[in-house]
Amino acid sequence: MLRVEKVSTFYGNIQALRDVTIRARRGRITTIIGANGAGKTTLLRTISGLTPARHGLVLFEDKDITSLPPDRIVRMGISQVPQGRQIFSELTVEDNLKLGAYIRRFRKRSDIMRDKEFIYELFPILYQRRKQIAGTLSGGEQQMLAIARAMMSRPKLLLLDEPSMGLAPKVIQSIFKTLFDLHEQGLTILIVEQDAKIALEASDYGYVMRMGKIALEGSAKELLENEEVKRIYLG
Ligand SMILES: Nc1ncnc2c1ncn2[C@@H]1O[C@H](COP(=O)(O)OP(=O)(O)O)[C@@H](O)[C@H]1O
Ligand SMILES: [Mg+2]
Repeated sequence: MLRVEKVSTFYGNIQALRDVTIRARRGRITTIIGANGAGKTTLLRTISGLTPARHGLVLFEDKDITSLPPDRIVRMGISQVPQGRQIFSELTVEDNLKLGAYIRRFRKRSDIMRDKEFIYELFPILYQRRKQIAGTLSGGEQQMLAIARAMMSRPKLLLLDEPSMGLAPKVIQSIFKTLFDLHEQGLTILIVEQDAKIALEASDYGYVMRMGKIALEGSAKELLENEEVKRIYLG
């Protein structure tokens, strides 16, 4: 579904990605693990058009999206849950979803209504909290809201940037359960994580990034058993 081919991305003169090649297969969960500064966020931003590649190609459903603007990429079916969630903390849950939809894609009220219903079915906890100010939600609920907001555009491919960050193990489990439910409904998912274990356990395939490069790849099972991965990323 998604192919990133020999991509290099720069911030000015600083090269953050070096010849990165990855695949996210349709209907699968793919995880990229790597330490802080490895280039994980840059890779997601390159896919979603926020920090376009200087060299290489990004192909989505065989279409070249390398240089398309972010809103076009969202409309094609790729949605990103940013690192640190970035919800509108002073607005209600409901307004976060509406605004997310407005910014991302839909302007028609009836569409937004329909999508909100779809979201509340997926995330009943958010329905209970719909009138609550988002900043008063727990960390886990805020992450749910960030995922829900990304789902408002009905993506085919969901990109998640460190969804477990700052959350307790139990809460992380519940976030990953939600992701697994979405996966079972056919969503293709690409996750980047420092917390390698739970992400790999939920995944089909994985990559290890180091200093802007793909250092290692394999089935999630292989990576979980790999000595180097165990030593460096699984503690
Ligand atoms: N806006 C930026 N300007 C300059 N350098 C950046 C910027 N964002 C990230 N970098 C650099 O790019 C590299 C990769 O960063 P990033 O993609 O955020 O890594 P990760 O998400 O794996 O922690 C790092 O060396 C980082 O310092
Ligand atoms: Mg990052």
